[in-house]
Amino acid sequence: MKNFTSSILFPISLLFLLSFSYVNSANPSGFIKCVTRNSQVSKILASNVLAPSDSSYTATYEFSMRNPRFNTSERLKPAVIVTPVADSQVQTVVNCAKTFDMQIRIRSGGHDFEGLSYSSTYQNVPFVLLDMIKLKSVTVDAKAKTAIVQAGATLGEVYYWIYRASGTLAFPAGVWSTVGATGLICGGGYGPLRRKYGLAADNVIDARLVDAKGRILDRQAMGEDVFWALRGGGCASFGIVLSWTLNLVDVPEKVTTFLIQRTLEQNATKIIHPFQTIAPKLPKEVDIRVRISTIESPTTARGKTVELSFTGLYLGAPDVLLKLIQKKLPQLIMVKEDLKEHTWIEAVMESSFFNMFEDTYSPEDLLDRTFLFDLPTKAKSDFVRDPISEEGLEGLWEKLLEVNPAETTIIFTPYGGRLSEIKESALPFPNRAGTLYMVYTRVLWVGDTTKKLEWIRSLYSYLTPYVSNNPRRAYSNYDDIDLGINPATGPITLADAKVWGKAYYKSNFDRLVRVKGMIDPDNFFRHEQSIPPFLPKADM
Ligand SMILES: Cc1cc2nc3c(=O)[nH]c(=O)nc-3n(C[C@H](O)[C@H](O)[C@H](O)COP(=O)(O)OP(=O)(O)OC[C@H]3O[C@@H](n4cnc5c(N)ncnc54)[C@H](O)[C@@H]3O)c2cc1C
Ligand SMILES: *[C@@H]1O[C@H](CO)[C@@H](O)[C@H](O)[C@H]1NC(C)=O
Ligand SMILES: *[C@@H]1O[C@H](CO)[C@@H](O)[C@H](O)[C@H]1NC(C)=O
Repeated sequence: MKNFTSSILFPISLLFLLSFSYVNSANPSGFIKCVTRNSQVSKILASNVLAPSDSSYTATYEFSMRNPRFNTSERLKPAVIVTPVADSQVQTVVNCAKTFDMQIRIRSGGHDFEGLSYSSTYQNVPFVLLDMIKLKSVTVDAKAKTAIVQAGATLGEVYYWIYRASGTLAFPAGVWSTVGATGLICGGGYGPLRRKYGLAADNVIDARLVDAKGRILDRQAMGEDVFWALRGGGCASFGIVLSWTLNLVDVPEKVTTFLIQRTLEQNATKIIHPFQTIAPKLPKEVDIRVRISTIESPTTARGKTVELSFTGLYLGAPDVLLKLIQKKLPQLIMVKEDLKEHTWIEAVMESSFFNMFEDTYSPEDLLDRTFLFDLPTKAKSDFVRDPISEEGLEGLWEKLLEVNPAETTIIFTPYGGRLSEIKESALPFPNRAGTLYMVYTRVLWVGDTTKKLEWIRSLYSYLTPYVSNNPRRAYSNYDDIDLGINPATGPITLADAKVWGKAYYKSNFDRLVRVKGMIDPDNFFRHEQSIPPFLPKADM
């Protein structure tokens, strides 16, 4: 009996070992020994290198898991988490990861829409999570109007330290204070100042990067191609960003904000229909976004309705804005009482916290990474180039009324202004002139999640005739693995990568592929939607 068991088991376990080593030779324990060894460029303290058995592993992992949808065993978690405290330690991580065949995921703010900065869909490929959370200093030079921002800083931290240096300087980035400045810049990054000053990436003047060879390169050393790619082309394909030098822009001491809400029963369709073409042509100083939600409505037949929230920021005085909107968009029926005058930092907080905490916040809350809640969500994006007809909008409301109140949000973000003046090829982000607005669609990942996924996909297919096509565009910062993913290991087929690549980057994808071929020809930095490397003249 004994002999029988061992003769059966032996070949099976051997086979298992062989197939494992065939699939992957990653060696997490070798990696851990390597990064903590004195002979490295810069040794990392054992307390900053965590294996799943370490007591602080889970807390560190989950702290910047900003989308609880990925708190699931369907995703592979890191074999090792490293939280470097010095730039040179990032070089050590790259060198040791290469030696021990470990892939790397890089996390700054942790808001990645598909959780790919900290978890993986490749169940058989162990990886190191490089968590940049301890490298987060922000140094502002108000006189030069620049700031040097380390990779791990959040938008809240960037905004706070600029505010401490000056009440009339700003960086044109996004809302929601816990979003990482780095991830946001890596995909372009838009916010309330986009129509006046363009994207966050349009306002970056230098960067420092650790490449696959473990070198630290600044703009001059990396060259204009790589510097171009980092500003919107998804940095995690090219290396590890250590810091950015940002160009700061002028804002008035006082600005105006508003929130106007209208339901379907309050003529919402009659406002949003003309809004689609009017908003992109308003003066650059006006930002109006529209948040669209399904809400409870006991007085309507179905007990629910659709509500449009027009949230605005104007770089000027209330009376000027009032006159302008009454003239250009009378359908909104804006009145004086809708408008509030704020200092710049108050307006930043109001927009950063989506008008939710306006009476209780203080600027220091921008530094608090636990101030905002994290919701489990699945999201998608689109770009609209021709206005959607009233019938099209009414069909959209019908789609929204299919889900429970509060379980979905759509946001229309008008473009135009400075965004349209910049050439499509200037940076990887291609959605410039000709774009009326961006559409963000999101469903809350609660209850029957299979149904939620089906629903948001059906919404996406409903929108097909109304949005950009050939290619149908998507915002790379709202990454969506429904568009396709790379294989876990081995070569990537360019034709497959083009499906999502052209959606995010249009023809700029071709240049990204060439830049990747130059800076990382061995494809060391890879993930589900990383840019594949092809050298110039490869079959494009
Ligand atoms: C609530 C919320 C609000 C948002 N608001 C806006 C908005 O107003 N405007 C806007 O444009 N976008 C917005 N976004 C999208 C946001 O820009 C992206 O999710 C962005 O990728 C988040 O950056 P992060 O650093 O937080 O994410 P992470 O998950 O840390 O990283 C995102 C990507 O960047 C890579 N990366 C991170 N750090 C580095 C590094 N140091 N070097 C190389 N690669 C790195 C990651 O590997 C990953 O691929 C929002 C997202 C959420 C969830
Ligand atoms: C993840 O799930 C675990 C187990 O259900 C739970 O204890 C933890 O709070 C969750 N964390 C996050 C960030 O959602
Ligand atoms: C809706 O439009 C009608 C007709 O133009 C108008 O009488 C009414 O006041 C509007 N309602 C709101 C809430 O704007």
